[in-house]
This record gives sequence, C-alpha cells and structure tokens, in this order.
Amino acid sequence: MKIRDINLGNEPVLLAPMEDVTDQAFRLLCKEFGASMVYSEFVSADALIRNVNRSLAKIRVDDRERPVAIQIYGRDVESMVEAARIVESEAHPDLLDINFGCPVKKVAGKGAGAGMLRTPELMLDIAREVVKAVKIPVTVKTRLGWDVPSLYDMPAEWLPVQEGKPFILELAERLQDCGIEALTIHGRTRSQMYQGEADWTLIGEVKHNPRIHIPIIGNGDICTAEEARQAFDRYGVDAVMIGRATFGQPWLFKDVRTYLDTGHHDDTMNLDWKFAVLKRQVQQSVAYSLNADNALKERKRTELGGIIHVRRHLANSPLFKGIPDFRQTRIRILQATTQEELFALLDEAKEKIERNN
Ligand SMILES: Cc1cc2nc3c(=O)[nH]c(=O)nc-3n(C[C@H](O)[C@H](O)[C@H](O)COP(=O)(O)O)c2cc1C
Repeated sequence: MKIRDINLGNEPVLLAPMEDVTDQAFRLLCKEFGASMVYSEFVSADALIRNVNRSLAKIRVDDRERPVAIQIYGRDVESMVEAARIVESEAHPDLLDINFGCPVKKVAGKGAGAGMLRTPELMLDIAREVVKAVKIPVTVKTRLGWDVPSLYDMPAEWLPVQEGKPFILELAERLQDCGIEALTIHGRTRSQMYQGEADWTLIGEVKHNPRIHIPIIGNGDICTAEEARQAFDRYGVDAVMIGRATFGQPWLFKDVRTYLDTGHHDDTMNLDWKFAVLKRQVQQSVAYSLNADNALKERKRTELGGIIHVRRHLANSPLFKGIPDFRQTRIRILQATTQEELFALLDEAKEKIERNN
C-alpha cells in the first residue's frame, strides 16, 4: 500500500496516535517490532503556534521511526494551516495527519477533533487549505459520525444525497475531493466514545465505494493477529491501525506481522524475552524523558517523567491478566517512582506468572 511515494508494504499495520502514549520512545519500540508506520500523539495547532515547548517536543522525529506521521488538531482554518507549516518545516515528518476524531470534551466540546463532525463544511475547508499549505501528503483520521452514522448527521448543504447513504460515505468522498491522500476511520461515532463495538461494516462500505481511490485505514478494537487478518479479508481495508491493544505489549506488531505474512503466530517470544522488552521500554522511556533536548528546556527533566509515562503501559500489560492476587502489584506499579522499583515489580510479576503456570 502506498501513500503517494511512501511505500508501506503489503497489508500494513499502523500504530494509532494516542495522547500520552505514543511518544517517541514508544513509537521506536513499535517500529522495531514491525509497525509499518507510527503516529505521534495529537498536537494542538494553537499550542504549536504559541511555541509551547511541550508541543514542540511532541513533533520531534527520529529518522529510525520513519515513515512517521505527525497529527495535529484545531478548530479553525488559519491556525491549522499555520500549524501544518510549522510541522512540515520544523519536524519533517513523512506525512501530516489531521485529527477529526477525538471525542473528549476538552477537544470535541470546543469544536475540534470529533467536534468537526458537527461542522463538516468547516472540516472540509480545513482539509482543503492544509493540503494546499504543505508539500507532504495530508491524511485524515475521523469517526463514523457525531451521533448516528446515518443521514441524520448530514448537513443541510449536502442534501439531497442518495437516500439511506451513511454520513461517513458522503464525508469520505468530500474529504478525498479536498486532496487528502488517505483516510483512517475509527468505527465508532463521537457519542459512543469508546463504548460498544466498533462497526467495521461501514468502514468496509467506504472502502468498496467505487468513487473512493485513496487508501482506507480501518481502526477500532483490533487486539489480535486474527482480528487484523479478518479486517483485511472481510472489509478489504488497505491498512489496519492498532491503538489500545499495544499497551504493555509493543511486540504485538511482531506477532501480527508474522501472522499476516505466514498464517502462523510468532512463537519466538517467550516470557523472559517479553519481560526484557518491558524493562527496555522503561529504560527508553526514562532516557527519552532525560534526554529531551532544547524543546523541553524549561520542563523539569527527571527520571520521574519517564516513569510516570511508562507505568500505565506496564500496569495494562496483558501478560498480567489472570494472575491471582495481582491487584496490589498493579497498584504498586502505578505508584512506582523509580526505574529500580519498576524493575523489582516486574521481576515479582514474572515470578508470580511462573509460579502460576
Ligand atoms: C489514551 C488514548 C489516547 C488517544 N489519543 C488519540 C490522539 O491523540 N489522536 C487520535 O487520532 N486518536 C487518539 N486516540 C484514539 C486511538 O487512536 C484509536 O482511534 C482508538 O483507541 C480506537 O482504536 P483501538 O480500539 O485499536 O484502541 C486515543 C485513544 C486512547 C485510548
């Protein structure tokens, strides 16, 4: 699959953009384990323009993570255009992704992210102008609609459309007409937040719309290699994007890649190896926090920054599912403040698993 001249290979598997999760340290790990492309956390256009240090730190790109996308969000054309130019000139990512899907109140409530699903004409203006403003490919990530993925969400300006046509089908065509070069669809509406199951049927309908020629990336609830296989086979998407299932198991990409390519799971990853990866994840997170360069000059650079970031990953690792009496250990992981403490807790968890087997 290609986005302009970025070749993502056969049946690509992408790391989803996730705030406070997909920092550079984590992206590099996922890349190492086979993610075909990785996305930054979303970055506020307004904050970038105000030169906010934290936002500038978020757009830094390391050549080893390429191809990499930087994602921005905002609520008006001017700031999005300016932020897009900053991202292109300062960070040189392979592509720029626009977030029209974030459901959280502080974003969508102000009209940005998924809030744009209520003002689709503004969404299209932003997409069109951002595409014109930069040379790199521009892509969009969105949801099925604001409330109901149906005609009810359709703005008056778009009517009449073919009866019964789902909102996302019309939106995808119009976004494509703005010049975006790929579209990621998370199979939920804004109102659903993260509840219920992602609806892949509509994602498949967009992909099979003969008018659509840009790559369609499917997203939502992919947790296993089998589910990724099914997304390609059943819905025909060009790529799948995985988010939450990567928490505490960046090696998921290795298994999914192997399974998609060979039909077999990767059985080379034993418990020792997985715990070594988790320890490396801790080390890399701490190193990233300590080394963050000028962009973070004024922010407190401490080991604690890296620990706070990584402990949530660890606490959610599927390795710990089903271990009896694990609750206390999980709480201690979430409260740990040093690398030493986290390593000791990981050793303790590993012993518990081994004892349990
Ligand atoms: C903690 C967290 C942070 C997220 N931050 C972003 C973000 O910055 N940009 C974005 O487009 N989506 C964001 N998302 C949504 C994910 O990219 C993805 O669309 C969603 O989690 C569904 O995919 P999944 O079922 O594979 O997790 C976030 C999700 C989570 C759980």
